[in-house]
Amino acid sequence: MSQSKEVLLNTRVGELVANDFRSAHIFSQYGIDFCCGGGITLDRAISRFNADEEALLNTLLALDGNTITNDGLTELALPDLLNYIEATHHTFVRDKAPLLVEYSQKMVRAHGENHSEIKPLAGWIAALVDDLMPHLMKEEQILFPAILGLHNQVESQTCFGHISNPINAMQYEHDDALQIMEKISELTNGFQPPEHACTTWRVCYASLAEFDTDLKQHIYIENNVLFPKALALTA
Ligand SMILES: [Fe+2]
Ligand SMILES: [Fe+2]
Repeated sequence: MSQSKEVLLNTRVGELVANDFRSAHIFSQYGIDFCCGGGITLDRAISRFNADEEALLNTLLALDGNTITNDGLTELALPDLLNYIEATHHTFVRDKAPLLVEYSQKMVRAHGENHSEIKPLAGWIAALVDDLMPHLMKEEQILFPAILGLHNQVESQTCFGHISNPINAMQYEHDDALQIMEKISELTNGFQPPEHACTTWRVCYASLAEFDTDLKQHIYIENNVLFPKALALTA
């Protein structure tokens, strides 16, 4: 067996999806639960879900070298798409946001007096996190279950009327989050630390750049893949 196949087999399913979201579609096709069951290695998942190991590994390896596109996500069934968004992007925000706050507060203590951009930066990071945490909750507890209900054709009483109402509200919140991210990008000179920056400063900017990329992808998928699919169910 090739080394890359062995690496795949020993990696957790959730990690493989986080590294390349196109694999979510492949796991779905092979009947492998990549969300709640994503904590086990691919090797164990193949046995548990009785998947064709050779075919699955070859399909995953064929992803290498191809450009990442959102095509795979467009093809995902709605329940898989919702699981994917929560398991990758919502988990990412919850994991990384507290670190950004911690790094920026450390920077305020160490450099806030001598560098005028640091205190506003910490303020914008706190504002972004304060916006995003309730946003994730609203999606997970109100909007996503409502979309799933529509998909399953379950009649349910909702307090918000038509599904377009919470979708519009979430889109406004996406715009707000992106505007804050833009301010952060300006303040940090596009996440480029100055020459004299200490390690925490460098780690903070690198983490912000990573957060920016993930947030833009997260919002793109919700606005352009998830919401149109949900609205099409009511057309
Ligand atoms: Fe989200
Ligand atoms: Fe969102």
